Amino acid sequence: MLDSIRVRRHDPENMLDQLIGFPDQCAGAVKLVEGFQLDGYTELEIRNIVIAGMGGSGIGGDLVKAVVADNCPIPVAVHRDYSLPAFVGQGTLFIAVSFSGNTEETLMSVETAYERGAVLIAITGGGKLAEFAVQRGIPCLTIPARGQPRSALGYLYLPVLAILDRLGFAQGFDFRGDTQEAIHLLSRLVNGFHPDVEDNRPKQLARQMCGKLPIIYAPQSLRAVAIRWTAQINENAKSLAYHNLLPEMNHNEIEGWKFPSDLTRCCFVVMLCDDAAHNRTQRRMEITAQLIEKHTAGIAQVHSQGESLLARLLSLIAVGDWTSLYLAVSYAQDPTPVVRIQELKRRLQMG
Ligand code: PA5
Repeated sequence: MLDSIRVRRHDPENMLDQLIGFPDQCAGAVKLVEGFQLDGYTELEIRNIVIAGMGGSGIGGDLVKAVVADNCPIPVAVHRDYSLPAFVGQGTLFIAVSFSGNTEETLMSVETAYERGAVLIAITGGGKLAEFAVQRGIPCLTIPARGQPRSALGYLYLPVLAILDRLGFAQGFDFRGDTQEAIHLLSRLVNGFHPDVEDNRPKQLARQMCGKLPIIYAPQSLRAVAIRWTAQINENAKSLAYHNLLPEMNHNEIEGWKFPSDLTRCCFVVMLCDDAAHNRTQRRMEITAQLIEKHTAGIAQVHSQGESLLARLLSLIAVGDWTSLYLAVSYAQDPTPVVRIQELKRRLQMG
């Protein structure tokens, strides 16, 4: 039974409380960014926006892009690498996001953006990124850096959204109304997902996924959510998971659902659904499920809730986050530590 006693037994560093506190964290992030000074930034001529960050810090950029890009008059890109594309330079608003402030890919890209004359903003818990920003007079929002980056999602995406809203790049997005709706919805969902609730959707999904390889399919508009589900299952449950997007996977991956047959029958598919996705993509998801189902270990659909795009994205993220916690517990894994990520960073530091 996935009750509080069992969850607490496998969760000594308290990922559970991080998930319970997520709606309050979002409210805290809204407050934190209110006093952030961006003097002179509204007068600058910005031609493109790049949000740089890796892993738990990078997902914030994906979420922001999902909310603003369709209505933004200039291109919005999320960047996850050392080097930068040639278009980044004067006229680029470059927002570097790093929970620790010490992620080498982010540091290298922000240095290049600075050398090329981009307009910079840093969002970080401290480290070298904060030092870099302070020394050069770059606006730097310091976020509370406790726990794991993936548990600080509220601090990693909401300030970026608020900044783009203030600079006039979040058209069609009602910052106050949409964040309030999202926070209320998240509070309601969190109550229902708590381990004290005898059964709930994340517990069901974790039971279905346990011992299987989770494959996440989503419409292109839910790309950020699919990435988050995959990463949370990887890092919290220490399980492989993969995602792909529709319509693209209808043009290649769908043919792969045959071999190795022992493997396909161990894959549990989650289809992330949103009523606002293109109606042809929704139809494609239905047909895809019909065509591949007999080769899988099962298929579950998870539907977004809420009105605004932000609320709908976060409602799906909440289901995925809680599912990954219950999956960790099902595998008797402590969801918090990421031993390999730390070890890899340690070895890289040695040269
Ligand atoms: O979850 C993690 O620990 C990673 O995905 C990190 O977020 C990633 O390595 C980047 O580090 P940071 O968020 O400190 O920039």
